[in-house]
Amino acid sequence: MMNLEVVILAAGQGKRMHSDKPKVLHSLASKPMLHHVLETASTLKPKKIHVIHGHGGEIVRKACERFAINWVEQYEQKGTGHAVIQALPFIDKSSMVLVLYGDVPLITQGTLTKLIAEHECQSLRLLTSKIENPFGLGRIIRDENEKVLGIVEERDATEKQREINEIYTGIMACPAQLLQDWLPNLNADNAQNEYYLTDLVAMATKDNVKIETVFPESVIEIQGVNDRLQLESLERSYQVMKCEQLLKEGTQILDKHRVDIRGSLSCGRGVTIDVNTVFIGNNTLEDNVSVGPNSIIKNSYLKQGAVIEANSIVEGSTVGENTVVGPFARLRPETTLAAHCKVGNFVEMKKTTMAEGSKANHLSYVGDALVGKKVNIGAGTITCNYDGANKHQTVIKDGAFIGSGTQLVAPVEIGENATIGAGTTLRDSAPDNQLTLSYKKTKTLASWQRPTKKKEKLG
Ligand code: UD1
Ligand code: CA
Repeated sequence: MMNLEVVILAAGQGKRMHSDKPKVLHSLASKPMLHHVLETASTLKPKKIHVIHGHGGEIVRKACERFAINWVEQYEQKGTGHAVIQALPFIDKSSMVLVLYGDVPLITQGTLTKLIAEHECQSLRLLTSKIENPFGLGRIIRDENEKVLGIVEERDATEKQREINEIYTGIMACPAQLLQDWLPNLNADNAQNEYYLTDLVAMATKDNVKIETVFPESVIEIQGVNDRLQLESLERSYQVMKCEQLLKEGTQILDKHRVDIRGSLSCGRGVTIDVNTVFIGNNTLEDNVSVGPNSIIKNSYLKQGAVIEANSIVEGSTVGENTVVGPFARLRPETTLAAHCKVGNFVEMKKTTMAEGSKANHLSYVGDALVGKKVNIGAGTITCNYDGANKHQTVIKDGAFIGSGTQLVAPVEIGENATIGAGTTLRDSAPDNQLTLSYKKTKTLASWQRPTKKKEKLG
């Protein structure tokens, strides 16, 4: 086996994006296009990855710090052939070189493996595809025996050649030795005055080097992004593809056009996902989980039978077995709910652990709290966890009952089976098994009269 080196072309400015951000950093499914390509390239275990950058090089480099990359600057963009020439001095003669584009993000490991393996070593391999509308792309020219003779760019093609619907995707693999022989002979004698990488194909034909072609597994793999319309359409195709994968595996998705998966989503059996749901980061949904409409789930773990009702936001949280969250609930990072809990409408939780069978059904803020088993948190309960400088913890022991409209001024501890009266502002800890409340008798003012609206206008 030859060593593999990957060259990713990413020097294009991407004028048509109308953005200050370099094109390859625009995101697809919340991840820069270039990261998609780098991650896929990494699965092939290459000896080196060379990225050709130009415009916005600093920003691109910074955004890719977590990858091991040999950065190569192309000062002037004089064509795809010129771009690969820049990497040549860094490539080992005995390697196989795979050329990818930073703006073709959805290429798969499967297709690339097909391209670089199972062939004679000394051949030029092209990823080609037959598409309905080949406008703008390089056409594959074959002779009557289907042998590839060359690639002709749209602008250099004759009327007849433009009718060919087999196109070059821009992705090729070639032994480094052949690149070293051929690249210095490129010229810019064409309609765009560029050094075309595609001219290598005619050189291979001339030198009797075998040219092999491979088709991608799916057309979305080879789609490039030049403007925001193409990015949007690729995002949609990608999302539908992700949903179709889950549907095939048995997840019930009510509308594959109204679910977005931005990251990894793992689903057990019997999972249901309603419309307008967005999954961000890494999420796991165990068996029989259901996610209601208009919900956002981010970096969370939903255990068996958990139910997220409509319009809820769950972030960085764990939801226990058969626990119900929402509608209109918000779980913020580091919230862990055990089994059979209930967090209802307009309840916000942050950094809170709730043990089995506890409830906060309505309108509450519970932050930095340790809540025991079978606790009932009444409507309008607020943990006053912040003194303006520091955060403090609230501890609520098993079986406690917190009356409605209560403020728990942290740090504070509520004992086992304690009851806190409605409307209490609790500043000291409350003992086990007793009723604690701040209580002021209500008073009725017999002589009081409701004000009436004044007639004359002010000013
Ligand atoms: C290229 C191919 C064409 C193919 C098409 C697929 C050539 C001559 N043509 O055309 O056959 O059908 O891709 O999309 O190769 N780039 C650089 N430096 C440069 C020029 C380009 O890094 O000097 C990068 C761009 O950022 C882009 C990629 O290479 O990612 C392709 O460049 P582009 O100019 O879009 O090539 P096409 O004209 O589309
Ligand atoms: Ca292009």
